[in-house]
Amino acid sequence: MRKNRVAGNWKMNKSLQEGEELTKNIIALNDNSNDVELIIIPPFVQLSSLVKLTQNTDIKIGSQNNHEAKSGAYTGEISASMLSALGVSYGLVGHSERRTYFNETNEQLLAKTKALLSEGIIPIFCCGEHLNERNSNQHFVTVENQLNALKELTAEDFAKLIIAYEPVWAIGTGETASAEQAQEMHAFIRKYISSNFGKSIADNCSVLYGGSCKPSNAKELFAMPDVDGGLIGGASLVAEDFIGIKNSF
Ligand code: PGA
Repeated sequence: MRKNRVAGNWKMNKSLQEGEELTKNIIALNDNSNDVELIIIPPFVQLSSLVKLTQNTDIKIGSQNNHEAKSGAYTGEISASMLSALGVSYGLVGHSERRTYFNETNEQLLAKTKALLSEGIIPIFCCGEHLNERNSNQHFVTVENQLNALKELTAEDFAKLIIAYEPVWAIGTGETASAEQAQEMHAFIRKYISSNFGKSIADNCSVLYGGSCKPSNAKELFAMPDVDGGLIGGASLVAEDFIGIKNSF
């Protein structure tokens, strides 16, 4: 059966020293009382150190972005092969902030996904609608279009992916999708996977919810049958909150 996961996307927050401190606090508070996988997704400059800090724990480390090429003249960019050489296990692809501020397209996101897969890194593919799309009842169409970026993957490759549904209107706003809204979209995503890649792949795919998820609302969200955990922004920057969310399962 599919795995429950809680991933903390630190975005552009924390210095190396602060990130190490936070990771040590997370390790200390994590009592392994449930079978939920914890993933920490720090800025690039902390990856190497945090992989080492977590190596004797069950905690995995993920990247926030990667370039689609293996190497070359792309000043400022980081390739998937560099990430795998560091011991990175997961990679975010298509976070709404990347789509919005860096104009990432479906074509690019497919290429980034393939680059991660070719290096044995598990992509966490993000999707989600803007408020105007939800208000005009276009949210399913938007998410379907975003998932269509992955349509040409083989079923074998798709089976390795994690999907994160993050309604953009709920990210960093304090506004959360209701458990029913999350469940409705997660069920839609699972149906999409089932139709395109087969029922067993859909049944085994972890679909995470993101958007102002915190200890006070995680329990209700995670109780939904198609919500397999969370992608956490703000609350992942506080060890007690991050572990509190994990313990909401
Ligand atoms: P938030 O961010 O938890 O701060 O809303 C979620 C995300 O962007 O992954």
